[in-house]
Amino acid sequence: MSDFKGFNLKESENFFFNQGPVNNHILSLKLSNFRNYLSYAADFPKCPIAFIGKNGVGKTNILEAISLMQPGRGIRSARLEDMAYKNCGNFGIHINLMKNREKHEIGSALEINYSKARKVKIDGKFISPLVLTEYLGVISITPLMDKIFIEGSSNRRKFFDRITWVFISTHAKNIKLYEKLVRERNNLLKDNFIDKTWFNNIEKQIVKYGSQIIIDRFKVIKLLNNEINKNNINFPKADMVFKGEIESKYHGSADLELFKESFLQALSDTRSKDACRGITSIGPHRTELEVSYKDKGILANICSTGEQKSLLISIILAVAKSYKNYCNLSPILLLDEVFAHLDNNKKESLSKEIKSLNIQAFMTGTEESDFMTFNENSYIINLDNQNDRRIHDY
Ligand SMILES: Nc1ncnc2c1ncn2[C@@H]1O[C@H](COP(=O)(O)OP(=O)(O)OP(=O)(O)O)[C@@H](O)[C@H]1O
Ligand SMILES: [Mg+2]
Repeated sequence: MSDFKGFNLKESENFFFNQGPVNNHILSLKLSNFRNYLSYAADFPKCPIAFIGKNGVGKTNILEAISLMQPGRGIRSARLEDMAYKNCGNFGIHINLMKNREKHEIGSALEINYSKARKVKIDGKFISPLVLTEYLGVISITPLMDKIFIEGSSNRRKFFDRITWVFISTHAKNIKLYEKLVRERNNLLKDNFIDKTWFNNIEKQIVKYGSQIIIDRFKVIKLLNNEINKNNINFPKADMVFKGEIESKYHGSADLELFKESFLQALSDTRSKDACRGITSIGPHRTELEVSYKDKGILANICSTGEQKSLLISIILAVAKSYKNYCNLSPILLLDEVFAHLDNNKKESLSKEIKSLNIQAFMTGTEESDFMTFNENSYIINLDNQNDRRIHDY
Protein backbone atom coordinates (compact mmCIF):
# COMPACT_ATOMS: atom_id res chain seq x y z
CA MET A 1 0.00 0.00 0.00
CA SER A 2 1.42 3.39 -0.92
CA ASP A 3 2.04 5.95 1.81
CA PHE A 4 -0.59 8.43 0.82
CA LYS A 5 -3.88 6.60 0.62
CA GLY A 6 -5.29 9.53 -1.29
CA PHE A 7 -3.00 8.87 -4.21
CA ASN A 8 -2.89 5.12 -3.94
CA LEU A 9 -3.48 3.43 -7.30
CA LYS A 10 -5.83 0.79 -5.96
CA GLU A 11 -7.93 3.37 -4.13
CA SER A 12 -7.98 5.84 -7.01
CA GLU A 13 -9.12 3.11 -9.41
CA ASN A 14 -11.91 2.61 -6.97
CA PHE A 15 -12.57 6.35 -7.11
CA PHE A 16 -12.96 6.33 -10.87
CA PHE A 17 -14.81 3.06 -11.34
CA ASN A 18 -16.98 2.89 -8.28
CA GLN A 19 -18.97 6.05 -8.11
CA GLY A 20 -21.87 4.33 -6.34
CA PRO A 21 -22.72 4.71 -2.68
CA VAL A 22 -19.74 4.84 -0.35
CA ASN A 23 -18.94 1.33 0.59
CA ASN A 24 -17.39 1.63 4.00
CA HIS A 25 -19.37 1.04 7.13
CA ILE A 26 -19.82 -0.96 10.30
CA LEU A 27 -22.45 -3.68 9.83
CA SER A 28 -22.65 -4.88 13.40
CA LEU A 29 -21.21 -4.48 16.87
CA LYS A 30 -20.99 -6.94 19.76
CA LEU A 31 -19.71 -6.14 23.22
CA SER A 32 -18.95 -8.43 26.11
CA ASN A 33 -17.96 -7.20 29.56
CA PHE A 34 -17.39 -3.72 28.17
CA ARG A 35 -18.07 -0.84 30.62
CA ASN A 36 -21.72 -1.14 31.79
CA TYR A 37 -22.53 -3.85 29.21
CA LEU A 38 -22.29 -7.51 30.19
CA SER A 39 -23.30 -8.08 26.60
CA TYR A 40 -24.65 -5.92 23.81
CA ALA A 41 -25.30 -6.59 20.14
CA ALA A 42 -26.63 -4.40 17.35
CA ASP A 43 -26.77 -4.42 13.56
CA PHE A 44 -26.35 -1.08 11.85
CA PRO A 45 -27.65 0.18 8.52
CA LYS A 46 -25.46 2.42 6.38
CA CYS A 47 -26.86 5.71 7.66
CA PRO A 48 -26.58 8.13 10.55
CA ILE A 49 -27.22 6.26 13.80
CA ALA A 50 -28.39 8.05 16.93
CA PHE A 51 -28.14 6.47 20.37
CA ILE A 52 -30.58 8.08 22.71
CA GLY A 53 -31.38 7.47 26.35
CA LYS A 54 -31.10 8.89 29.81
CA ASN A 55 -27.86 10.00 31.43
CA GLY A 56 -25.67 7.03 32.33
CA VAL A 57 -27.48 4.50 30.13
CA GLY A 58 -24.31 3.74 28.11
CA LYS A 59 -24.36 5.92 24.98
CA THR A 60 -20.79 7.21 25.21
CA ASN A 61 -19.61 3.71 26.14
CA ILE A 62 -20.78 2.40 22.75
CA LEU A 63 -18.94 5.21 20.94
CA GLU A 64 -15.87 4.45 23.05
CA ALA A 65 -16.02 0.79 21.96
CA ILE A 66 -16.11 1.85 18.30
CA SER A 67 -13.22 4.25 18.89
CA LEU A 68 -11.11 1.27 19.98
CA MET A 69 -11.17 0.18 16.34
CA GLN A 70 -8.21 2.58 16.05
CA PRO A 71 -4.78 2.52 17.71
CA GLY A 72 -4.63 4.02 21.19
CA ARG A 73 -6.97 4.08 24.15
CA GLY A 74 -10.14 5.42 22.58
CA ILE A 75 -12.16 8.61 22.93
CA ARG A 76 -11.71 8.85 26.69
CA SER A 77 -7.99 7.97 26.68
CA ALA A 78 -8.92 5.69 29.56
CA ARG A 79 -7.02 2.80 31.13
CA LEU A 80 -7.97 -0.52 29.56
CA GLU A 81 -8.65 -2.06 32.99
CA ASP A 82 -11.31 0.61 33.59
CA MET A 83 -13.13 -0.40 30.42
CA ALA A 84 -13.79 -3.95 31.65
CA TYR A 85 -17.18 -4.48 33.27
CA LYS A 86 -16.75 -3.58 36.96
CA ASN A 87 -12.98 -3.90 36.45
CA CYS A 88 -13.32 -7.67 35.94
CA GLY A 89 -10.16 -7.77 33.83
CA ASN A 90 -11.59 -8.89 30.46
CA PHE A 91 -13.58 -7.33 27.68
CA GLY A 92 -14.31 -8.04 24.05
CA ILE A 93 -15.43 -5.79 21.19
CA HIS A 94 -16.30 -7.29 17.85
CA ILE A 95 -17.36 -5.55 14.65
CA ASN A 96 -18.18 -6.60 11.13
CA LEU A 97 -16.89 -4.02 8.72
CA MET A 98 -17.73 -3.55 5.06
CA LYS A 99 -14.88 -1.98 3.12
CA ASN A 100 -14.63 -1.88 -0.66
CA ARG A 101 -17.32 -4.55 -0.90
CA GLU A 102 -15.25 -6.84 1.30
CA LYS A 103 -16.39 -7.92 4.72
CA HIS A 104 -13.87 -7.92 7.57
CA GLU A 105 -14.24 -9.14 11.12
CA ILE A 106 -12.35 -7.08 13.66
CA GLY A 107 -12.03 -7.98 17.30
CA SER A 108 -10.34 -6.17 20.15
CA ALA A 109 -10.02 -7.79 23.55
CA LEU A 110 -8.38 -7.46 26.93
CA GLU A 111 -7.43 -10.45 29.05
CA ILE A 112 -5.56 -8.93 31.92
CA ASN A 113 -4.30 -12.28 33.25
CA TYR A 114 -2.36 -12.78 30.03
CA SER A 115 -1.42 -9.25 29.03
CA LYS A 116 -1.98 -5.63 29.99
CA ALA A 117 -2.14 -4.73 26.29
CA ARG A 118 -5.26 -5.27 24.24
CA LYS A 119 -5.16 -7.87 21.50
CA VAL A 120 -6.53 -7.11 18.05
CA LYS A 121 -7.61 -9.70 15.51
CA ILE A 122 -8.60 -9.04 11.91
CA ASP A 123 -10.20 -11.86 9.95
CA GLY A 124 -8.93 -14.36 12.50
CA LYS A 125 -5.30 -13.18 12.57
CA PHE A 126 -3.66 -11.31 15.43
CA ILE A 127 -2.28 -7.95 14.33
CA SER A 128 -0.81 -4.88 15.99
CA PRO A 129 -3.49 -2.25 16.80
CA LEU A 130 -1.43 0.10 14.60
CA VAL A 131 -2.57 -1.88 11.53
CA LEU A 132 -6.22 -0.95 12.22
CA THR A 133 -5.66 2.32 10.34
CA GLU A 134 -5.37 0.29 7.12
CA TYR A 135 -8.93 -0.91 7.55
CA LEU A 136 -10.87 2.10 8.79
CA GLY A 137 -10.59 5.66 9.99
CA VAL A 138 -12.56 6.93 12.94
CA ILE A 139 -12.89 10.64 13.71
CA SER A 140 -14.60 11.86 16.84
CA ILE A 141 -15.89 14.95 18.59
CA THR A 142 -16.63 14.47 22.28
CA PRO A 143 -17.34 16.75 25.25
CA LEU A 144 -13.77 16.05 26.42
CA MET A 145 -12.63 18.10 23.43
CA ASP A 146 -14.52 21.19 24.58
CA LYS A 147 -11.28 22.76 25.78
CA ILE A 148 -9.09 21.55 22.94
CA PHE A 149 -8.27 25.09 21.75
CA ILE A 150 -7.60 26.37 25.25
CA GLU A 151 -5.56 23.61 26.87
CA GLY A 152 -1.93 22.65 26.10
CA SER A 153 -0.82 21.74 22.60
CA SER A 154 -0.59 17.96 23.04
CA ASN A 155 -4.32 17.20 22.55
CA ARG A 156 -4.45 19.35 19.41
CA ARG A 157 -1.47 17.43 18.04
CA LYS A 158 -3.13 14.11 18.88
CA PHE A 159 -6.35 15.26 17.22
CA PHE A 160 -4.46 16.17 14.06
CA ASP A 161 -2.43 12.96 14.09
CA ARG A 162 -5.60 10.87 14.29
CA ILE A 163 -6.87 12.78 11.26
CA THR A 164 -3.56 12.27 9.45
CA TRP A 165 -3.67 8.51 9.82
CA VAL A 166 -7.12 8.41 8.21
CA PHE A 167 -5.31 9.53 5.04
CA ILE A 168 -1.91 7.96 5.61
CA SER A 169 -2.22 4.70 7.51
CA THR A 170 1.53 4.44 8.26
CA HIS A 171 1.37 7.68 10.26
CA ALA A 172 0.18 5.91 13.44
CA LYS A 173 3.14 3.54 13.35
CA ASN A 174 5.60 6.37 12.64
CA ILE A 175 4.30 8.35 15.63
CA LYS A 176 4.66 5.34 17.92
CA LEU A 177 8.23 4.59 16.76
CA TYR A 178 9.21 8.26 16.93
CA GLU A 179 7.87 8.71 20.48
CA LYS A 180 9.76 5.60 21.61
CA LEU A 181 13.01 7.00 20.15
CA VAL A 182 12.50 10.38 21.85
CA ARG A 183 11.95 8.59 25.18
CA GLU A 184 15.20 6.65 24.61
CA ARG A 185 17.11 9.88 23.90
CA ASN A 186 15.60 11.51 27.00
CA ASN A 187 16.71 8.55 29.11
CA LEU A 188 20.26 8.80 27.75
CA LEU A 189 20.25 12.52 28.56
CA LYS A 190 18.94 11.93 32.10
CA ASP A 191 21.58 9.27 32.74
CA ASN A 192 24.33 11.67 31.54
CA PHE A 193 25.29 9.12 28.95
CA ILE A 194 28.29 10.31 26.99
CA ASP A 195 28.68 7.74 24.22
CA LYS A 196 28.31 9.88 21.10
CA THR A 197 27.76 6.89 18.81
CA TRP A 198 24.61 5.94 20.75
CA PHE A 199 23.31 9.49 20.50
CA ASN A 200 24.14 9.71 16.81
CA ASN A 201 22.30 6.47 16.06
CA ILE A 202 19.19 7.39 17.98
CA GLU A 203 19.12 10.92 16.58
CA LYS A 204 19.42 9.60 13.01
CA GLN A 205 16.37 7.42 13.64
CA ILE A 206 14.53 10.36 15.24
CA VAL A 207 15.19 12.38 12.09
CA LYS A 208 14.05 9.52 9.84
CA TYR A 209 10.65 9.07 11.51
CA GLY A 210 10.27 12.69 12.62
CA SER A 211 10.72 14.01 9.07
CA GLN A 212 8.14 11.60 7.72
CA ILE A 213 5.67 12.71 10.40
CA ILE A 214 6.21 16.35 9.42
CA ILE A 215 5.87 15.64 5.69
CA ASP A 216 2.65 13.68 6.20
CA ARG A 217 1.10 16.27 8.54
CA PHE A 218 1.86 19.00 5.99
CA LYS A 219 0.28 17.00 3.16
CA VAL A 220 -2.90 16.58 5.16
CA ILE A 221 -3.13 20.13 6.51
CA LYS A 222 -2.86 21.46 2.96
CA LEU A 223 -5.57 19.12 1.76
CA LEU A 224 -7.89 20.13 4.60
CA ASN A 225 -7.32 23.88 4.35
CA ASN A 226 -8.04 23.68 0.61
CA GLU A 227 -11.19 21.69 1.25
CA ILE A 228 -12.41 24.12 3.93
CA ASN A 229 -11.74 27.07 1.62
CA LYS A 230 -13.76 25.78 -1.26
CA ASN A 231 -16.60 24.58 0.93
CA ASN A 232 -19.70 26.60 1.40
CA ILE A 233 -21.22 25.26 4.55
CA ASN A 234 -22.94 26.93 7.42
CA PHE A 235 -19.97 26.49 9.77
CA PRO A 236 -17.14 28.94 10.40
CA LYS A 237 -14.14 28.25 8.19
CA ALA A 238 -11.19 27.02 10.23
CA ASP A 239 -7.68 27.85 9.14
CA MET A 240 -4.92 25.60 10.44
CA VAL A 241 -1.18 26.21 10.61
CA PHE A 242 1.66 24.34 12.24
CA LYS A 243 3.96 26.43 14.38
CA GLY A 244 7.27 25.35 15.85
CA GLU A 245 11.02 25.38 15.48
CA ILE A 246 11.08 22.26 13.34
CA GLU A 247 8.28 23.58 11.11
CA SER A 248 10.29 26.77 10.49
CA LYS A 249 13.25 24.66 9.44
CA TYR A 250 11.02 22.58 7.17
CA HIS A 251 9.69 25.72 5.49
CA GLY A 252 13.12 27.30 5.27
CA SER A 253 14.88 24.32 3.63
CA ALA A 254 15.17 24.18 -0.12
CA ASP A 255 15.12 20.40 -0.17
CA LEU A 256 14.32 17.47 2.06
CA GLU A 257 17.90 16.26 2.49
CA LEU A 258 19.01 19.72 3.67
CA PHE A 259 16.09 19.80 6.09
CA LYS A 260 17.02 16.39 7.51
CA GLU A 261 20.63 17.52 7.95
CA SER A 262 19.54 20.64 9.81
CA PHE A 263 17.18 18.57 12.00
CA LEU A 264 20.05 16.20 12.87
CA GLN A 265 22.38 19.11 13.55
CA ALA A 266 19.80 20.76 15.82
CA LEU A 267 19.45 17.57 17.88
CA SER A 268 23.19 17.32 18.29
CA ASP A 269 23.51 21.04 19.17
CA THR A 270 20.81 20.89 21.84
CA ARG A 271 22.15 17.82 23.69
CA SER A 272 23.69 19.70 26.63
CA LYS A 273 20.77 22.12 26.95
CA ASP A 274 18.30 19.20 26.75
CA ALA A 275 20.30 17.21 29.34
CA CYS A 276 19.62 19.91 31.97
CA ARG A 277 15.86 19.62 31.40
CA GLY A 278 15.72 15.89 30.57
CA ILE A 279 13.69 16.55 27.42
CA THR A 280 14.13 16.70 23.66
CA SER A 281 13.37 20.31 22.83
CA ILE A 282 13.03 20.07 19.05
CA GLY A 283 10.91 17.82 16.85
CA PRO A 284 7.33 17.12 15.77
CA HIS A 285 6.39 16.15 19.36
CA ARG A 286 6.61 19.89 20.13
CA THR A 287 4.50 21.11 17.22
CA GLU A 288 1.74 23.62 17.89
CA LEU A 289 -1.38 23.34 15.75
CA GLU A 290 -2.75 26.86 15.55
CA VAL A 291 -6.40 27.09 14.51
CA SER A 292 -8.18 30.31 13.69
CA TYR A 293 -11.67 31.41 12.70
CA LYS A 294 -10.76 32.60 9.24
CA ASP A 295 -13.52 35.11 8.48
CA LYS A 296 -13.22 36.78 11.86
CA GLY A 297 -9.42 36.65 11.81
CA ILE A 298 -9.24 35.51 15.41
CA LEU A 299 -7.57 32.55 17.06
CA ALA A 300 -9.80 29.65 18.10
CA ASN A 301 -8.78 29.94 21.77
CA ILE A 302 -10.66 33.24 22.11
CA CYS A 303 -13.74 32.08 20.18
CA SER A 304 -16.99 31.31 22.01
CA THR A 305 -17.68 27.72 23.10
CA GLY A 306 -20.22 27.28 20.31
CA GLU A 307 -17.80 28.74 17.74
CA GLN A 308 -15.04 26.41 18.92
CA LYS A 309 -17.31 23.38 18.50
CA SER A 310 -18.34 24.64 15.06
CA LEU A 311 -14.68 24.99 14.05
CA LEU A 312 -14.09 21.36 15.05
CA ILE A 313 -17.11 20.35 12.99
CA SER A 314 -15.83 22.30 9.99
CA ILE A 315 -12.51 20.43 10.28
CA ILE A 316 -14.01 16.96 10.52
CA LEU A 317 -16.41 17.64 7.66
CA ALA A 318 -13.38 18.65 5.58
CA VAL A 319 -11.73 15.34 6.53
CA ALA A 320 -14.79 13.40 5.43
CA LYS A 321 -15.12 15.35 2.18
CA SER A 322 -11.52 15.21 1.07
CA TYR A 323 -11.18 11.55 2.01
CA LYS A 324 -14.30 10.72 0.06
CA ASN A 325 -13.12 12.73 -2.95
CA TYR A 326 -9.86 10.84 -3.16
CA CYS A 327 -10.83 7.35 -2.09
CA ASN A 328 -14.60 7.13 -2.30
CA LEU A 329 -14.33 5.86 1.24
CA SER A 330 -15.38 7.65 4.34
CA PRO A 331 -14.20 7.79 7.90
CA ILE A 332 -16.65 6.72 10.58
CA LEU A 333 -17.78 9.77 12.57
CA LEU A 334 -18.40 9.62 16.31
CA LEU A 335 -20.33 12.66 17.51
CA ASP A 336 -20.87 12.47 21.25
CA GLU A 337 -23.38 15.07 22.49
CA VAL A 338 -22.72 17.30 19.49
CA PHE A 339 -26.27 17.85 18.27
CA ALA A 340 -27.77 18.84 21.63
CA HIS A 341 -25.45 21.86 21.79
CA LEU A 342 -26.02 23.25 18.31
CA ASP A 343 -28.62 25.86 17.44
CA ASN A 344 -31.36 24.68 15.06
CA ASN A 345 -29.78 26.26 12.03
CA LYS A 346 -26.47 24.47 12.65
CA LYS A 347 -28.24 21.20 13.52
CA GLU A 348 -29.92 21.37 10.14
CA SER A 349 -26.67 22.12 8.30
CA LEU A 350 -24.75 19.32 10.02
CA SER A 351 -27.44 16.73 9.37
CA LYS A 352 -27.61 17.87 5.73
CA GLU A 353 -23.82 17.49 5.36
CA ILE A 354 -23.82 14.04 6.97
CA LYS A 355 -26.65 12.89 4.71
CA SER A 356 -25.07 14.27 1.54
CA LEU A 357 -21.68 12.75 2.39
CA ASN A 358 -23.38 9.41 2.86
CA ILE A 359 -21.15 8.61 5.81
CA GLN A 360 -21.89 6.49 8.80
CA ALA A 361 -22.07 8.78 11.80
CA PHE A 362 -22.70 7.44 15.31
CA MET A 363 -24.27 10.14 17.43
CA THR A 364 -25.59 10.47 20.95
CA GLY A 365 -28.22 12.59 22.64
CA THR A 366 -30.69 12.29 25.46
CA GLU A 367 -33.71 13.15 23.31
CA GLU A 368 -34.93 11.91 19.96
CA SER A 369 -35.79 15.52 19.16
CA ASP A 370 -32.02 16.31 19.01
CA PHE A 371 -32.04 14.46 15.68
CA MET A 372 -35.26 15.83 14.19
CA THR A 373 -33.28 17.73 11.53
CA PHE A 374 -32.47 14.42 9.84
CA ASN A 375 -36.12 14.49 8.82
CA GLU A 376 -36.37 10.91 9.99
CA ASN A 377 -33.47 9.83 7.79
CA SER A 378 -31.65 8.30 10.69
CA TYR A 379 -31.63 5.10 12.70
CA ILE A 380 -32.61 5.71 16.29
CA ILE A 381 -31.53 3.26 18.98
CA ASN A 382 -33.23 4.03 22.26
CA LEU A 383 -31.02 2.46 24.92
CA ASP A 384 -33.66 3.05 27.61
CA ASN A 385 -35.71 0.49 25.77
CA GLN A 386 -33.41 -2.05 24.13
CA ASN A 387 -36.09 -3.31 21.77
CA ASP A 388 -36.78 0.12 20.35
CA ARG A 389 -34.92 0.45 17.07
CA ARG A 390 -36.44 2.52 14.36
CA ILE A 391 -35.20 2.97 10.88
CA HIS A 392 -36.57 5.63 8.62
CA ASP A 393 -36.28 5.86 4.88
CA TYR A 394 -33.37 3.40 4.50
N1 LIG B 1 -15.98 -0.48 33.95
C1 LIG B 1 -17.27 -0.21 34.16
N2 LIG B 1 -18.08 -1.16 34.67
C2 LIG B 1 -19.41 -0.94 34.87
N3 LIG B 1 -20.00 0.24 34.61
C3 LIG B 1 -19.24 1.22 34.14
C4 LIG B 1 -17.85 1.06 33.87
N4 LIG B 1 -17.35 2.21 33.40
C5 LIG B 1 -18.38 3.07 33.35
N5 LIG B 1 -19.52 2.48 33.77
C6 LIG B 1 -20.87 3.06 33.85
O1 LIG B 1 -21.45 3.12 32.56
C7 LIG B 1 -22.57 3.99 32.64
C8 LIG B 1 -22.82 4.61 31.31
O2 LIG B 1 -21.81 5.54 30.98
P1 LIG B 1 -21.86 6.44 29.67
O3 LIG B 1 -20.79 7.45 29.83
O4 LIG B 1 -21.84 5.61 28.46
O5 LIG B 1 -23.29 7.12 29.83
P2 LIG B 1 -24.08 8.04 28.82
O6 LIG B 1 -25.29 7.31 28.38
O7 LIG B 1 -23.16 8.53 27.76
O8 LIG B 1 -24.52 9.22 29.79
P3 LIG B 1 -24.54 10.82 29.60
O9 LIG B 1 -25.86 11.14 28.93
O10 LIG B 1 -24.50 11.31 30.99
O11 LIG B 1 -23.37 11.23 28.80
C9 LIG B 1 -22.29 4.94 33.79
O12 LIG B 1 -23.25 4.76 34.78
C10 LIG B 1 -20.94 4.50 34.30
O13 LIG B 1 -20.81 4.60 35.69
MG1 LIG C 1 -22.29 10.37 27.36
